[in-house]
Amino acid sequence: MEKIKLGGSSLEASRIILGCMRIADMGDPALASHVNRAIESGINLFDHADIYGAGECERKFSKVLASEVDREDILIQSKCGIRHAGGSNRKENPYYDLSRGYILESVDGILERLGTDYLDLLMLHRPDALMEPEEIAEAFDRLHDSGKVRHFGLSNFHATQFDFVQKHTDHKLITNQVQFGVGAPHMVNSRMQANTPFEGAGDRDGGLLDHSRMNDVTLQAWSPFHYGYFEGIIMDDPKYKTLNDVLEDIGHSHGLTKNAVAVAWILRHPANMQTIIGTTDTSRLEDIAKAGDVTLTREEWYRIYKAAGHILP
Ligand SMILES: NC(=O)c1ccc[n+]([C@@H]2O[C@H](COP(=O)([O-])OP(=O)(O)OC[C@H]3O[C@@H](n4cnc5c(N)ncnc54)[C@H](OP(=O)(O)O)[C@@H]3O)[C@@H](O)[C@H]2O)c1
Repeated sequence: MEKIKLGGSSLEASRIILGCMRIADMGDPALASHVNRAIESGINLFDHADIYGAGECERKFSKVLASEVDREDILIQSKCGIRHAGGSNRKENPYYDLSRGYILESVDGILERLGTDYLDLLMLHRPDALMEPEEIAEAFDRLHDSGKVRHFGLSNFHATQFDFVQKHTDHKLITNQVQFGVGAPHMVNSRMQANTPFEGAGDRDGGLLDHSRMNDVTLQAWSPFHYGYFEGIIMDDPKYKTLNDVLEDIGHSHGLTKNAVAVAWILRHPANMQTIIGTTDTSRLEDIAKAGDVTLTREEWYRIYKAAGHILP
């Protein structure tokens, strides 16, 4: 699988990332084998967040780090900034906190749970309406100078918010982790339906796709199989029958599963995005990883896009 340098930095990572949001309930041997198969398939980057499984996902992953893989052989990224009123193990009443103190405290918690001295990449999970970019910059300096974090990025940030944070820190922000997939392609809809009355013309993210390419920021596409905001997955959903038929047909000609074609669709975009898959099924993971070796044609890309019900003016 191809590796790319994230956001023009020295950090060289696989185009497919294994997301660890759903690993809390996996048994230790199953997770160890899952991670090992991911590595054998060419994946070298693992995505976490302090809130995944209320910290349990990072704790589970620490056992893999302790016994299965050499820390220096893989890259680990995590995210912070979402809190829950009443304690970090409660899912209800979320709020956002990108204060200096909370970022520093969160990273200490992440490192302790993972059982590692450093993160290759820290991302701020969601923009906080009350954020002060000077405080974020101070936190980044402290984390970098102490060796706890090597690189920084953002997640779910609008283009101008991204610039706002970047303006205050000397650390190049190398990634923006955002929702993108054939079931949620707002970033491309708004570019292709520009200046039309169609619903897709709405620019929800300030032209993030163009912004990222112009500023050498790597986009990481999360939940590649979802449609809407966690409404469901496109695979085998009767609402997406035409899309499933087309994915199957194109997959047949490339020797790929429907999941893998949906990932190849994201990877085909010249923005050179990464895709974060969240499967806990090891054979599904191995099949999806094959997408990293296939380049869809332009005609196939548009056929998939239209089969998902998106229009071209
Ligand atoms: N920055 C953010 O705000 C943000 C938000 C959400 C997620 N993320 C990151 O993105 C990663 C991926 O997110 P995700 O797990 O929601 O994305 P996903 O890979 O689109 O979805 C995975 C889910 O879909 C199921 N699935 C996939 N293909 C299937 C099929 N053919 N048939 C039945 N079920 C199927 C998986 O079940 P199986 O386990 O059975 O395969 C799993 O439950 C997360 O782990 C996390 O690291 C980031």
